[in-house]
Amino acid sequence: MTAAAGIVGWGTAVPEGRVTNADLAQRVDTSDEWIVERTGIRERRVAGPGETTATLAVEAATHAIKRAGLVPADVDLMIIATVTPEQPIPHTGAFVGEALGLQCGSFDMNAACAGFVYELVVGASMLQMGYDRVLLIGAETLSRIIDPEDRTTTVLFGDGAGAAVLAPTREAPGVLAWDLGCDGSAAGLLEIRAGGSRLPASAATIADRDHFLKMAGQEVFRRAVRAVVESAMLTLGRAGVDAGDVAWFVPHQANGRIIEAAAHRLGFEPERTLVNIDRFGNTSSASIPLALFEAVDDGRVHDGDLVLCSGFGAGMTWASTLLRWGAR
Ligand code: ACO
Repeated sequence: MTAAAGIVGWGTAVPEGRVTNADLAQRVDTSDEWIVERTGIRERRVAGPGETTATLAVEAATHAIKRAGLVPADVDLMIIATVTPEQPIPHTGAFVGEALGLQCGSFDMNAACAGFVYELVVGASMLQMGYDRVLLIGAETLSRIIDPEDRTTTVLFGDGAGAAVLAPTREAPGVLAWDLGCDGSAAGLLEIRAGGSRLPASAATIADRDHFLKMAGQEVFRRAVRAVVESAMLTLGRAGVDAGDVAWFVPHQANGRIIEAAAHRLGFEPERTLVNIDRFGNTSSASIPLALFEAVDDGRVHDGDLVLCSGFGAGMTWASTLLRWGAR
């Protein structure tokens, strides 16, 4: 794959609804102090009635297409990364494509919190196949799969979406190097057990709360730091780039302590690490685009900057890309 896939348009969307740590402390046995100290999260956005993964995806995609100076008909392929699809069948892309007026090819991708980085790599390779403008979306309504009575997960997750239009670029090389991985031996660490072919939905699975996300937090934490560091280093090595030359490290926003530990081991100071977990919590495949595009919009990320994105999630999956930011 030649390196010629640049982000020429970008956009984000989050629900209006805010849930603070104090709000959660009224519902489960937790406190603002515990949540801030252990996770860095202060509030998260939560979808209201009528808001779904597809509506957030459409809003983010509309901004991205407009920012690229395009109209929806210019998009010739759409990929949606999500662990919270609109419904089991059909894929979320069917609903998003219908709302945007697209009839191009589309598919969903489930690589959990590594989803946006996975689709950056897949989208870049699809440009090599001859596509001209690939719309990438990471969109989640995690509030719909979290057990509101489980204090170990309900404090962590939020809803949101980020979208990017990927197109061949002339001056800025775009995706320079990448790494994708998955260790399925860790599948049980972070899962929704029921609702698939292994354990179809039944009255018993509902009674057992098996349609909610379950997580072995400490073990995920341990593996996450290792996965992010190893994947990021592999990616830098493949590009022949030193961490000192990277302007921005954009880690998946799962836990402030994971971000700090990974950034420290990789040699990124807080000033070069993008963090917005305090305001959005963990938004899975939306987290990296939400953090990156916020920093682009407020002028922190400049044309020519090297940007290292690194995500990890259920599977356990991991993925990193090194990008040179710029749209030409
Ligand atoms: N409020 C108060 N106490 C709590 C809460 C809470 N919300 N949640 C757990 N506790 C308690 C526990 O019950 C435990 O109590 P005990 O000692 O009496 O048993 C104590 O706090 C410590 O629990 P730990 O699990 O050891 O806490 P830890 O410091 O590991 O923090 C956390 C938990 C925040 C979940 C952390 O492990 C973590 O962030 N893990 C990684 C999660 C992650 O990265 N997920 C990403 C993937 S998401 C995806 O792919 C969709």
